[in-house]
Amino acid sequence: MKIHTSVTDIRAALENCRPVAFVPTMGNLHEGHIALMRQARPHGKTVVASIFVNPLQFGPNDDFGSYPRTFQSDCEKLEAAGVEHLFAPTVEALYPIPQSYFVEPPALQQSTLDGEFRPGHFRGVATVVLKLFNIVQPQAAVFGKKDYQQLMVIRNMVQELNLPVEIVPGETVRAEDGLALSSRNGYLSATERTEAPRLQGLLSDMRRAILAGETDFTRLEKHAAQVLRNHGWAPDYVAVRKQLDLQLPAAGESALVILAAARLGSTRLIDNLEV
Ligand code: PAJ
Repeated sequence: MKIHTSVTDIRAALENCRPVAFVPTMGNLHEGHIALMRQARPHGKTVVASIFVNPLQFGPNDDFGSYPRTFQSDCEKLEAAGVEHLFAPTVEALYPIPQSYFVEPPALQQSTLDGEFRPGHFRGVATVVLKLFNIVQPQAAVFGKKDYQQLMVIRNMVQELNLPVEIVPGETVRAEDGLALSSRNGYLSATERTEAPRLQGLLSDMRRAILAGETDFTRLEKHAAQVLRNHGWAPDYVAVRKQLDLQLPAAGESALVILAAARLGSTRLIDNLEV
């Protein structure tokens, strides 16, 4: 695998490797990331990954400084997965001057769910993803459903800005006990780690209730949030939404997704389940 740290280098290296299938990441790679690399394979001649912890998408109280950086082992995993090129720029290489042009997702998304609880987050994500797309110029890019709203924001950006990239969704990879794999799981203490699968368990319970005919989503949401609180969590939201736009479902809406974000100790976990 060739590693590139400058925009000029990666552009030159990819000249004869197109079409490219691309998987952007922030590193600290786990099996969820690697599954996306494998999924990218049939979408291009060359698979390109990126590792970049993007300061623009972290709030002032977020974990930018402490975000796990494990470059050596990440490279070994990418190599083993057959990734041909890695773009791993420094902050200075990607933002040589302070970024002053931004991709501003619609106000509705920025006030919904993670948009509400992480002000500026999706603007930072959309901006860096557009920059990475412009640098790598992929034919296709793979994004995990684990970050459901992020996938939606990127899809809408690609559509509205006519970007020539196919967005491929990847299923969420989970640990045996159901916990969605996440770089942030490493922050959990041993006790918190045994508690963490409860989040996914509650989403499964809600899905079962909805499939059995429950229509009072507010009751389900409140119950799940209360159970989390009873077990020491601080939930930001537990919400049943439309898959299409993550807004409140009208009666009879069938394509639903249940999304949750909650803090366990100092770790913020998110998860979701389609219904
Ligand atoms: P990061 O959190 O590193 O995730 C990179 C990609 O891996 C995202 O598309 C994410 O949805 C996917 N992913 C994470 N955990 C997963 C799991 N358990 N199963 C399947 N896919 C999973 O998301 C980001 O980085 C950044 O916001 C980024 C898009 C790179 C922009 O900075």
